[in-house]
Amino acid sequence: MVYSNKHGRQERRMPASALVFTVAVVLSFLLIVLWILAFPHEVSSYSNATDAVAARRKRETDHWRRCTWRGAQDYIPCLDNKNYLRHNKAHKHFEHRERHCPSEAEQPKCLVPLPPGYKAPILWPQSRDEVWYDNVPYQKLVSFKADQNWMKKMEDKLVFPGGGTQFKDGAGQYINFIQRAYPEIEWGKNIRVLLDVGCGVASFGGYLFDREVITMSFAPKDEHEAQVQLALERGIPAVSSVMGTQRLVFPSNVFDIVHCARCRVRWHGDGGLLLLELNRILRPGGYFVWSATPVYQTDTTDQQAWNKTLAVTESMSWKLVAKQNSNEAAIGVAIFQKPKDNELYKTQKVATTMLPFCPDADNADAAWYVKMRKCIHRIPNSARSEWPAQWPGRVNATPAWLTDSQIGIYGRPAPEDYRADTEHWEHVVHKSYLQGVGIDWTTIRNIMDMNAGYGGFAAALIKQPVWVMNIVPITEPDTLPIIYDRGLIGMYHDWCEPHSTYPRTYDLLHANRIISSTKNRCNVTSLIMEMDRILRPNGWAIFHDQVEVLSKVQEILRSLHWDVFLTYKKDNEELLAAQKTFWRPDASS
Ligand SMILES: *[C@@H]1O[C@H](CO)[C@@H](O)[C@H](O)[C@H]1NC(C)=O
Ligand SMILES: *[C@@H]1O[C@H](CO)[C@@H](O)[C@H](O)[C@H]1NC(C)=O
Ligand SMILES: *[C@@H]1O[C@H](CO)[C@@H](O)[C@H](O)[C@H]1NC(C)=O
Repeated sequence: MVYSNKHGRQERRMPASALVFTVAVVLSFLLIVLWILAFPHEVSSYSNATDAVAARRKRETDHWRRCTWRGAQDYIPCLDNKNYLRHNKAHKHFEHRERHCPSEAEQPKCLVPLPPGYKAPILWPQSRDEVWYDNVPYQKLVSFKADQNWMKKMEDKLVFPGGGTQFKDGAGQYINFIQRAYPEIEWGKNIRVLLDVGCGVASFGGYLFDREVITMSFAPKDEHEAQVQLALERGIPAVSSVMGTQRLVFPSNVFDIVHCARCRVRWHGDGGLLLLELNRILRPGGYFVWSATPVYQTDTTDQQAWNKTLAVTESMSWKLVAKQNSNEAAIGVAIFQKPKDNELYKTQKVATTMLPFCPDADNADAAWYVKMRKCIHRIPNSARSEWPAQWPGRVNATPAWLTDSQIGIYGRPAPEDYRADTEHWEHVVHKSYLQGVGIDWTTIRNIMDMNAGYGGFAAALIKQPVWVMNIVPITEPDTLPIIYDRGLIGMYHDWCEPHSTYPRTYDLLHANRIISSTKNRCNVTSLIMEMDRILRPNGWAIFHDQVEVLSKVQEILRSLHWDVFLTYKKDNEELLAAQKTFWRPDASS
């Protein structure tokens, strides 16, 4: 085809394929420029999959073997500590479901196998409704939950009909029912962060995504019911945990709502100890939403449980703001509110039945292996007890309680520090992670930020169809309350110990300065083995750290047959992106 330009000269028009090629070249060039702008680093080394394959051939460190005991494919070191369980028989308070980590010497030096027939998981949002049976082959859970219409096996899939709740027509109807019972609950506006206790297969959390609500779900690890594993396979945030003798690993005053539907927790037991733990983690003015049988059944046992639970809530000065039964489903819900400030405690009529206050020296945010205490934490006399901004503004709003007199994690006054961090991650995520490191983001759903700081990485991803578990390591400044204030979720953890998640539950691990900050305290090889356990095959890790620690990391990753896709170095800083493969070692070697 020809056309005339205004000078009258004839020119050949570019064929479409050449045009596409040119555009592609220009775009690639732009991406590289953007990348270099985002990380003003000299590109001093570049390695690609071809290199990785070559390195794989001459693997000097290939000494791995596969764990071979029965059930090894679902191994969670701190929850499956057979040695501990053999010698400690206490079960009364679910001690056997709490974390008991094996010592470094006791930790098996092997990699967990894949279940037979394991496939790359179904992608979100389809995964909310169906998962591969071979990936989570729990026949027992299917039959156990058959009466509850939670899930069904259909050929090679597990399907979750009707959202898997007590409502025939699904979770959406249940979510509406709660809002009708107490219209001050506005999903996705004043209510953003929710904790679901004993979450089942986490359909409630799965459907709350549609309402812009993010739910942290938890349930104990139980041989028969891998509820949490199913939740994560579906792409719904969850963690194995139990209401036992220790505090949940969350700060105080952070959840907008704590929810329990048939969660099988005896709330009135132990003088209300477990409700006091909910009182600790609920935001001032936050709600406890309870839809278990004591709320709506009239037999003596349920009535007794209701009466006793009500007595505990009264002695914590919680207010019963709604109690309603549903006509569609034979259930009911009770909604309690935690006091907004300390005034209510003063005017408490029956002061004698009040539970005691905790001593001032008891840090309400301390939650890493801290025993629960039978006391009420006073509500902070600061802006920290104010309700955060409405969603979605909340994610980038500066929490009102950060003041100039506090020093932030990078040494500037806290509010300025926080805002600079937000901008930094916005830039890094959009200019490089989302386009420059080789990740196919359509395959990414479950993300863990292993060292989350202010949660800036997660905030920058807020428009993506992903969710982020923000980990604040116990050795770092405690920024977790800030993360919750932004309407994001997270937990405390110590990376010298394995995490309480199942194998193959995350698509992307963000390891920002986590190796250098732990290398003096714990074993780098063990940490990388743990990352290998948590990541799904084809999952990714992005490391950002000092050059010398990452060279060691790269060596370990290659020995694990990960593909190291790129490394960028500048001065003593390095960025490394790597992808786990389906490779597993032989059982014998
Ligand atoms: C990967 O690296 C090799 C040698 O280092 C090079 O020949 C090849 O073109 C590279 N491949 C890509 C896709 O960049
Ligand atoms: C529960 O409390 C109500 C009201 O105080 C009372 O009428 C009822 O008998 C109590 N039920 C049980 C089983 O204790
Ligand atoms: C670190 O852990 C690896 C694998 O468990 C082990 O082989 C190695 O000896 C450990 N290193 C140290 C210094 O303890």
